[in-house]
Amino acid sequence: MSTIESILTENRIFKPSQNFTEQANLSEWQEYKKLLTEADSDYEGFWARMATENIDWNKPFSKILNSDNPPFFRWFEDGELNVSWNCLDRHLTTQPNKVAIIFESDDGNVTRITYKQLYHRVCQLSNGLSKELKILPGDRVIIYMPMSIEAVVAMQACARIGATHSVVFGGFSAKSLQDRIIDAGANCVITADGGIRNGKEVFLKNTVDEALGSGGCECVKHVVVYQRTKSTINMDTKKDIWMHDLVQNQPDVSNPVWVSSEHPLFILYTSGSTGKPKGVQHSSGGYLLQAQLTMKWSFDYKQKDIFWCTADVGWVTGHTYIAYGPLAVGATQVIFEGVPTYPDANRFWQMIANHSVTVFYTAPTAIRSLIKLGKDLPKQHNLTSLRLLGSVGEPINPEAWVWYHSTVGSGKCPIVDTWWQTETGGHMITPLPGITPLKPGSCTLPLPGIVADVVDESGESVEKGKGGILVIKKPWPSMIRNIWGDPERFKKTYFPDDFDGKYYLAGDGANRDADGYYWIMGRIDDVLVVSGHNLGTMEIESALVAHPLVAEAAVVGKPDNVKGETIVAFVVLQGDLPIGDESDQTAQILRNWVTKQIGPVAKPEEIRFGDNLPKTRSGKIMRRLLRSIAKDEEITQDTSTLENPSILEQLKKVR
Ligand code: PRX
Repeated sequence: MSTIESILTENRIFKPSQNFTEQANLSEWQEYKKLLTEADSDYEGFWARMATENIDWNKPFSKILNSDNPPFFRWFEDGELNVSWNCLDRHLTTQPNKVAIIFESDDGNVTRITYKQLYHRVCQLSNGLSKELKILPGDRVIIYMPMSIEAVVAMQACARIGATHSVVFGGFSAKSLQDRIIDAGANCVITADGGIRNGKEVFLKNTVDEALGSGGCECVKHVVVYQRTKSTINMDTKKDIWMHDLVQNQPDVSNPVWVSSEHPLFILYTSGSTGKPKGVQHSSGGYLLQAQLTMKWSFDYKQKDIFWCTADVGWVTGHTYIAYGPLAVGATQVIFEGVPTYPDANRFWQMIANHSVTVFYTAPTAIRSLIKLGKDLPKQHNLTSLRLLGSVGEPINPEAWVWYHSTVGSGKCPIVDTWWQTETGGHMITPLPGITPLKPGSCTLPLPGIVADVVDESGESVEKGKGGILVIKKPWPSMIRNIWGDPERFKKTYFPDDFDGKYYLAGDGANRDADGYYWIMGRIDDVLVVSGHNLGTMEIESALVAHPLVAEAAVVGKPDNVKGETIVAFVVLQGDLPIGDESDQTAQILRNWVTKQIGPVAKPEEIRFGDNLPKTRSGKIMRRLLRSIAKDEEITQDTSTLENPSILEQLKKVR
């Protein structure tokens, strides 16, 4: 890692316009420096001030950071709050009739809901869950929903009663859902009959039935079903209940359950490079603080904004920048059920124009595919309402950045390229749009209170201009608290012995340039980023190996202009090497299998069969060699540790 150099040379600099800077929440370098100095001289005092000024506590905290048992850090632990109260009740007197959510469905139907209406909806569902279904604080509730107002209501209702939610992305298969239900030990699932994307129905309730029917999910006592599509589904009278029936006679007010700042607000499963998905456990107070601060700092939130984050609530971006952050600051936000390309590639631009969106936050993969489908389409729409653009999920290529800036933002909107992770809870390294000069492709500088660094394998800071391992050197309030049910894995994964357990290991490679700007170079392990989704190789490999025909499998990414990466799988079959048609047929069987096991996003684009895989003597698969083969590149890397070099020639030839 310490030898990694940035191959990207990007010298363009974009300064915020005077107009933008004048109105920005943070508008001068001195202000930023002052915050940095404050955090530097009194780290805990800085965070205590932020937490006091931004969050409404039912009982104020007296302890700031508890580091007695690192890396299990605890922030504001004796403080009591309710996250839903902070997102809803506190706006009831100041702005009850402000629109909280503008929901646009796949077919273009628009629904608006005010803060007061949202509050009542959340109260009714929370009453239904706690009084009727007897869901208690600390119980885990799985949410498997389409993008909808109801998905946010479900998350907020859980937060209100102190239940810990775990949202599972609606594109995941029954098997993935089942694994997560079992790991979380959930007693309730909130789902919908279906969702509509791209003009087609996604049958969610059927998938829930399949997951629950596969065994191991006996912990689930209730399934709450939101009626979205009205298609025929199976309702089990013992377990299943329609959401509209559950809330029908419930009072539309409720007292929130006050919880400790450390109470787990949610678990969100994320794929790692090895082993099963990790249940990233977040807190309440610290998490909410970063969600709120970054709405103000990174997104320069203003009362009049129409904020639109295009992520799905199944990912952390949809948690922090849909379900919690925008509501905590009292914003009006757009929520979209569909996809950017339906009915055609004008959809995003049309929606920005129709809803007068001011702050637009999306992923590089969406930007790349929209460039491909219609470079000039944004020009056909009135996008003058936009004042700020954001990017998240993977490094954005400078050319895509420049297109986004000039064509979507008309050259006047700063772009906040926000680096963060499921585990960090909120933005970490990101521009302050009124202050930071931007360099396309760089997420620029750490936010105040975030102590990032780039180090080599021994934990020493690398000099500017060199690449290395991205670490965070001090605990911060919105950090991951644990891997659900697996504290040892939490320690090993994020606070490894390599750095004496002191630094948080982000798992990304990064380069810092002469100005101290951070350039993320991707994962240091083998996680693939396909269409904006981070997929663990191990999960896909495990799915392949679970098929009776397969003996071994290794999965690597192959660069793709649109998807970021496509998946290439190298497979060793139980039987002989297949030839001709047999090879194609087997590949198809395995592709379908992976789709069923994990979901379409994990489907390998290409499957190559071999007699073996390249392995080190200790038995580790050398994926970096497979990456070169997948790209049809000459192998120039060191192969001296390879146990079976001849296999490389075979894998190159065999398709
Ligand atoms: O590799 C980094 C990449 O996405 C990873 C985190 O993925 P996930 O937990 O799914 O969260 C995605 C949404 C926050 C990071 O370790 N990543 C995320 N944002 C950026 C990024 N890489 C480069 N630039 C970014 N802005």
